[in-house]
Amino acid sequence: MTAFRSVIIGTGSALPERVVTNADLSVKLETSDAWIRERSGISERRIAAADVKTSDLAVAACLEAMAAAGVGPDAIDLVIVATATPDDTFPATATTVQHRLGIRQGAAFDVAAVCSGFVYALTVADSLLVCGRFQRALVIGAELFSRLLDWDDRATAVLFGDGAGAVVLERQESSAETGGGRGILAARLHADGAHHDLLYVDGGPGSTGTVGKLRMKGREVFRHAVQNLASVVDEVLDDTGLEATAIDWIVPHQANARIIEATARKLGVPMSKVVLTVGEHANTSAASVPLALDTAIRDGRIRPGDLCLLEAMGGGFTWGAVLVRL
Ligand code: ACO
Repeated sequence: MTAFRSVIIGTGSALPERVVTNADLSVKLETSDAWIRERSGISERRIAAADVKTSDLAVAACLEAMAAAGVGPDAIDLVIVATATPDDTFPATATTVQHRLGIRQGAAFDVAAVCSGFVYALTVADSLLVCGRFQRALVIGAELFSRLLDWDDRATAVLFGDGAGAVVLERQESSAETGGGRGILAARLHADGAHHDLLYVDGGPGSTGTVGKLRMKGREVFRHAVQNLASVVDEVLDDTGLEATAIDWIVPHQANARIIEATARKLGVPMSKVVLTVGEHANTSAASVPLALDTAIRDGRIRPGDLCLLEAMGGGFTWGAVLVRL
């Protein structure tokens, strides 16, 4: 019987022009470059100008991904945007992206899983392609988290940035056994809504006109993140029968260098196999995984055939992992 897999055939990303360094933040907040670097690994972040929308960054990332894949708008029949900062309460930002890219067929919708959003969207897209419902998807993580920050709260304002990343995912026939061949080999998602109050935006939804600011109990988020990420990675490895030693690159959600290091240590994977972009991009929520993936593909670290582990955890809590051969 013919088996099908979803294969990443192109990646792209987009960042706002304005760089904001830790030193810039220290002017307005009681913080320091040394504190931010030591606790988070972050040196700088990009912050979008007031007139930039999430869809602007998403479209720019998609154009790069489509060029890398060598496909035009007629080839795409599914657009999924993972975001917690959509352009509007409705319609979905994905429909704006679809329209601006000149895509006239198929479906478009948003996924809200905050920092796990891209891993969620990729898993949903994979399921829809493998079952034959769609042929080629744009899966995007795009965020303007700067708009949700309380710029008087030094414990959160220093940790986040804006950006977008995208991949083109294509349904392809696969005769290869699990673990060999290109494409998504395994994916697992989880949520536990009991932890709402550890990481959320106060003030109600955008539709009330009172949307508030991000609130976080950082220490507790840290503890859950390391535990949950290590266990979901074990699950995708078990699904494929592969060992952690088979992983060529971990492309983690870029929340904090210390979470990333602790998770890699738990898995026994050296930091030389981990893509780390949090220093330059900070935490861009749903954008962080595709942004890191695109960065490492473009600078030549990740090569065709490499086994990559994508993992993320975010508000909800939500968390998940995807094992994919590029
Ligand atoms: N500059 C200087 N001092 C600060 C700052 C700052 N920006 N922020 C907090 N502090 C102070 C605190 O007020 C506190 O002072 P006190 O001891 O006088 O009360 C002290 O530093 C220690 O604060 P903690 O919150 O205990 O510091 P901690 O070592 O836990 O580091 C951090 C904080 C970086 C937020 C850490 O808990 C963390 O990384 N948590 C994970 C959160 C995260 O990454 N969330 C992202 C979203 S979820 C996700 O993506 C996984």
